Amino acid sequence: MRRYEEVTEQVIRELRDIVGERHVIYGDSEKLEGYAHDEVTDQRFARQPEAVVKPASAEEISAIMRLANQHLIPVTPRGAGSGLSGGATPIYGGIVLSLERMNRILEIDRENLVAVVEPGVVTNTINEAIEEDGLFYAGYPMSVETCYISGNVAENAGGGKAIKYGVTGRYVLGLEVVLPTGEIVQMGGKRIKDVTGYDLVKLMVGSEGTLGIFTKITLKLLPLPKAAADLLVLFEDVPSAIAMVPEIMTNGRIIPTAIEFMDKLSVQTTCRYLREELPYEEAGAMLLIEVDGHRASQVEEDYEAIGEMCLEQGAIEVYVADNHTTRERVWAVRRNIAEAFKVHSPVQSLEDVVVPFARIPDLIPELERISDRYSVTIPCYGHAGDGNLHVTIVKSPETPMEGWEELEHAVLLELYDVVKHLGGTLSGEHGVGIKRRDFLPLVMDEKLIDIQRGIKAVFDPNCVLNPGKIFPTARDEGSRGAADRTLSDAELGA
Ligand code: LAC
Ligand code: ZN
Repeated sequence: MRRYEEVTEQVIRELRDIVGERHVIYGDSEKLEGYAHDEVTDQRFARQPEAVVKPASAEEISAIMRLANQHLIPVTPRGAGSGLSGGATPIYGGIVLSLERMNRILEIDRENLVAVVEPGVVTNTINEAIEEDGLFYAGYPMSVETCYISGNVAENAGGGKAIKYGVTGRYVLGLEVVLPTGEIVQMGGKRIKDVTGYDLVKLMVGSEGTLGIFTKITLKLLPLPKAAADLLVLFEDVPSAIAMVPEIMTNGRIIPTAIEFMDKLSVQTTCRYLREELPYEEAGAMLLIEVDGHRASQVEEDYEAIGEMCLEQGAIEVYVADNHTTRERVWAVRRNIAEAFKVHSPVQSLEDVVVPFARIPDLIPELERISDRYSVTIPCYGHAGDGNLHVTIVKSPETPMEGWEELEHAVLLELYDVVKHLGGTLSGEHGVGIKRRDFLPLVMDEKLIDIQRGIKAVFDPNCVLNPGKIFPTARDEGSRGAADRTLSDAELGA
């Protein structure tokens, strides 16, 4: 066992020397509070850092990491803070390293169809910058207007277009990484193919800020589809909407860009939050289906075929959105569901379970069963087309706060068990972080967890980079929240 040191005045002086006086926050609780949590509402997963540093270069980050190793101080890297598993929460205190100043698009290489960006670039601005070149970056997390690309890479963000375009990792060709011990290394590059050694780029993608800090990200770009349209399809109830999802891809033989699912409560809550009106009152559930392509006629053919299939299978109504304004309206509703629930019912657990997409129809009755058994509301929405659903366990106003944590825990255990038996797993896109850490052994072999702890220890022998995330430690079993300053042997790879 070892203990992390506190951030002393001396350390603060050294941090100020590295990044400049203005770029260190210290002793200002109000400002530090902004870095104490991500989008997870549960306060058990929040903790104020002792200091925040805002470096402007890989060299500065390298110096910070060397200092952290020298003094044994935990460093938690942070993008935009839009994460949903507590990945950017400094659960041992210490330093939060915010990437907010590193927000330049460094290069758009039109010849190789790649962009090189800094970690603090807002994902949407990449697309804004390359649109006039007829290019696009295919990652599409729902927080696209606020999240940073580095957070997308750290979490291997999925989002709304994964059935057709895959998730973030498919587009990360190269990374400049500051290792936890401070070395600056280059992994991958602008190459489409690379089998020279282990695929370390893939290892970094989805490593949740535990193996390195990304300082340059090389992204593969695609030609921007010239045509796209969305269908908003209304159904009587959840089972009939969900039954359509595999149908479109298997019998219909069309892989749309997106098949998003929203149940009644999700649509109603969000429409009220946004003061938006969708034709929702009569519908028990909705699908938002997008198709895109390079020929308008092909796109039209695809959405007409999908629309007909839906009507044949009992959809109440199919609305077509084929211009930018109406498409953006329906997607804005979809993108804001999580935020609407957060405002409406902050005591909740937002999950992102994933199953093979053909098993989604089997998941729905299980959710109803769990909801009845524990008398909790479980609204549900998400990326049905790729099997990734945002099952949200919401405390209703009648349920007393006392005993809620135990109830939520029991519901999660049952949910994860169901998902596992359907061939699924805990998290499809938000990551394990601190929120799901102690549930990992439910779905992963202990030996594999140990191997990953070993990998962590090779990269980070002093366990200073984002400690306490992903892998449970024996000592912390059963306590999911912020920890004291003691490092266990497991975390040190002993
Ligand atoms: C979404 C976030 C919660 O899909 O992942 O809205
Ligand atoms: Zn999502």
